[in-house]
Amino acid sequence: MNFDNILKENVAFTESILAEKLPEKTGEQKVIFEAMDYSVMGGGKRLRPMLMMESYALFKGREEAKNDEVLRTFMAALEYIHSYSLVHDDLPAMDNDEYRRGRKTTHVVYGPGMATLTGDALLNYAFEICLEACVSCDASKRDAGLKSALILSKKAGIYGMIGGQVVDVSLTGHTPTLDQISYINKLKTSALIESALMIGACLAGASDKDIHEMEKVGSYVGLAFQIQDDILDIESTTQELGKPVHSDEKNDKTTYVTLLGIQKAKSSVESYSKEAIDIVNKLYEDSRNDETFLSELINRLITRRK
Ligand code: IPE
Ligand code: IPE
Ligand code: MG
Ligand code: MG
Ligand code: MG
Repeated sequence: MNFDNILKENVAFTESILAEKLPEKTGEQKVIFEAMDYSVMGGGKRLRPMLMMESYALFKGREEAKNDEVLRTFMAALEYIHSYSLVHDDLPAMDNDEYRRGRKTTHVVYGPGMATLTGDALLNYAFEICLEACVSCDASKRDAGLKSALILSKKAGIYGMIGGQVVDVSLTGHTPTLDQISYINKLKTSALIESALMIGACLAGASDKDIHEMEKVGSYVGLAFQIQDDILDIESTTQELGKPVHSDEKNDKTTYVTLLGIQKAKSSVESYSKEAIDIVNKLYEDSRNDETFLSELINRLITRRK
């Protein structure tokens, strides 16, 4: 099967898990279930769960990945956490953006109070389902499940994504150095991507050394991904992107692009991506895997338009 077909299948597979694992929409607090659904199911590239699945596939195979209930749960949990980070990032008190994934943001539809709670709910629910999966899985899988939950909590937390958003917010309106920008990007964006690749490897039974290699891949992919996001904020259109362009300028945010210029930014996207691809190709070789999906996916992100 060629890349585009696998990509389509992977996105459809991920969407089905995301829908399946959301809470049932009944009870007094029904509105939160609807807002969670609205925030998660409104499109998006599904990059992080897909990276998790393909990292597992690299070490153990794609069919095995699709049938691993613990992996499926972590795939959903990570996309719920990513979606919460976007709901909060868009709030009036943060980037104050009104479109996301081609439709009104959660706070526009449900109000800022309920949007704050929707983010909280998605974050907490993500860990509920992961721990539930660890408790109810086969005992032989429990250690890898718990280790994955720890990776997820750290990468989403104060030393990961939240930490990056904190520095991003603190430096808004100031002119950070290039090192500070890279620090923000590594935390706010690489951390969740690192968790995707590490958890996929961990649940597939990869060695600590290989899990660490996947962490490096995630770090490079995340840096490239955020710089490309900053480029698209300048060069794209709201219609193509599904979220407002010029959000960074509006919020007086200094980015890699404003600091170094668009050409230098584009060549950095390429060089970070190449670093990641080299590591992945080496791992494919070591595992005598004739797959190339993960390297091709990372390669395509260099020229992504949304
Ligand atoms: C947007 O992430 C936030 C960043 C880290 C740049 P994505 O570009 O993956 O957003 P969706 O999930 O496809 O909407
Ligand atoms: C946010 O970066 C990254 C997150 C952790 C949510 P941005 O603020 O640039 O993301 P977009 O452009 O709104 O998606
Ligand atoms: Mg932001
Ligand atoms: Mg934003
Ligand atoms: Mg952006």
